[in-house]
Amino acid sequence: MIDFKIRKAESKDVPDILRLIKELAKYEEMEGQVKLTEENLLEDGFGDNPLYHCVMAEVPSEPQSNNGPVVIGFAMYYFTYDPWIGKLLYLEDFFVMEKYRENGIGSEILKLLSDMAFETRCNSMHFVVANNNKKSIEFYKRRGAADITQDEGWRLFKINKSSLFKMSSGSKE
Ligand code: ACO
Repeated sequence: MIDFKIRKAESKDVPDILRLIKELAKYEEMEGQVKLTEENLLEDGFGDNPLYHCVMAEVPSEPQSNNGPVVIGFAMYYFTYDPWIGKLLYLEDFFVMEKYRENGIGSEILKLLSDMAFETRCNSMHFVVANNNKKSIEFYKRRGAADITQDEGWRLFKINKSSLFKMSSGSKE
């Protein structure tokens, strides 16, 4: 069992948050899609109205080094609303560095998020998993997750910035 700690993110964590976002994107073979900067993350997550929250997993640094704890995993989440069941905790990103997996860190992060979900009256936790990420799909299913794409046929869409602009009043000026 390794020594680790899970805590809420602070603004000083922004470089690690971006690093881990990129590591997860690389794992999903979509690293080139990450356009976000540290400035964006700082402004959007640590201002008066944060658009996202993170919990960070850290381990102590090597005994000989004088450095502080090292961040080795995280989860990014936010609260959203479903017109049928109400408040939801949406898990956006969830990643533990490979060397530290299978030590119970991911399960502990989910436990903390479940506590938060209950404390804040959420009725569900929603998330999207890449179809080829079979290991994670099984990890979530073992914890009671239902595949609503398969069971209910929902499809995920996005409208990109140029299509949004075509619909917006700004494009007619
Ligand atoms: N000793 C040995 N094995 C253990 C221990 C332990 N102390 N604790 C847990 N395990 C085993 C368990 O068998 C567990 O599997 P289970 O489902 O049978 O319980 C397995 O390790 C993994 O559990 P954890 O260690 O709690 O989780 P981990 O720290 O490995 O994190 C995660 C899970 C985040 C999915 C990690 O595997 C990961 O980063 N994967 C790559 C990225 C990824 O796929 N992220 C999710 C994308 S989807 C999204 O972001 C919404």
